[in-house]
Amino acid sequence: MNLDIIRIAPAQLVTPERLLLYALVYGLRPKHCLEIGTAQGGSALIICSALDEIGLGQLVIVDPAPQIAPEHWARMAHRAALIVGRSPEALSQAQQLAGSKFDFVFIDGDHSFEGVLKDIEGVIPLLDAGGYILLHDAHYFEVKEAIDEALRRYPFLTDCGMVSKEAHPTDHFYKNQRIMWAGFRLLRFNPLNEASIAIVEATKKLAALQEQLQDKDQTIADLQQRLTQIYNSTGWRLLEKYWRWVERYLPEGTRRRSWYNQVMRAFKNIFYRRDSNE
Ligand SMILES: C[S@@+](CC[C@H](N)C(=O)[O-])C[C@H]1O[C@@H](n2cnc3c(N)ncnc32)[C@H](O)[C@@H]1O
Repeated sequence: MNLDIIRIAPAQLVTPERLLLYALVYGLRPKHCLEIGTAQGGSALIICSALDEIGLGQLVIVDPAPQIAPEHWARMAHRAALIVGRSPEALSQAQQLAGSKFDFVFIDGDHSFEGVLKDIEGVIPLLDAGGYILLHDAHYFEVKEAIDEALRRYPFLTDCGMVSKEAHPTDHFYKNQRIMWAGFRLLRFNPLNEASIAIVEATKKLAALQEQLQDKDQTIADLQQRLTQIYNSTGWRLLEKYWRWVERYLPEGTRRRSWYNQVMRAFKNIFYRRDSNE
């Protein structure tokens, strides 16, 4: 194994990060890699060398202003494709080039809070189940806050934490915070978590529906009880007696019954003030 590339690659990474990047790619054996932010192509060279060592995999690089020297490009051209463009806008083109979902994404482009969050949100739909997102400069507060926000928003991202801790503090301050570079933080896309979120939501809806159903059952039980009370009341018994009496002594089709019907209609008109033809 030729690890010279870790020393000579023009990467903006400290030594532990170089070693770890190589080891992660070598160990995870991703088939479809994406790099957002390449500069001189140093990290891309490390990724491609690890892919060479395992003998598989491709890397798509997105950067609006790459400065890859021809001799460096020559070392990785057989494994890499370069898109001169910005993330996240260029990400769908990156996926088309890869021809598949990505299983390893390295984000080291726009380091603003919005930029990092957009990159993470942009790559989520392009990630394969169990795919990884590695973020550089995770000690920088905007990168850190964007990662934390993404983890809050998307519980199907698992935080594997800071996998490389060496920090580069500077004398500069931004928004009252000391600027600190370096640091790798690793996230894992866990579709099972996505499924569990769906299950939790569905269970909540089911519980709400069951509650509504219970309310309806209670209403039906109340009405049935009311009906039983009516059937058992003296008034209802008298009415039943009266109807039996009518059927017995004023049978249908007789003259008596038609007089009775007329009298009842007249009563109805008086009490309900309705037209007698109704
Ligand atoms: C810190 S450098 C990358 C260093 C490189 N990963 C390495 O370790 O060798 C940041 C790069 O991100 C690029 N960049 C800035 N905004 C970007 C964006 N929206 N999409 C992709 N790349 C971006 C810059 O042009 C620059 O080359």
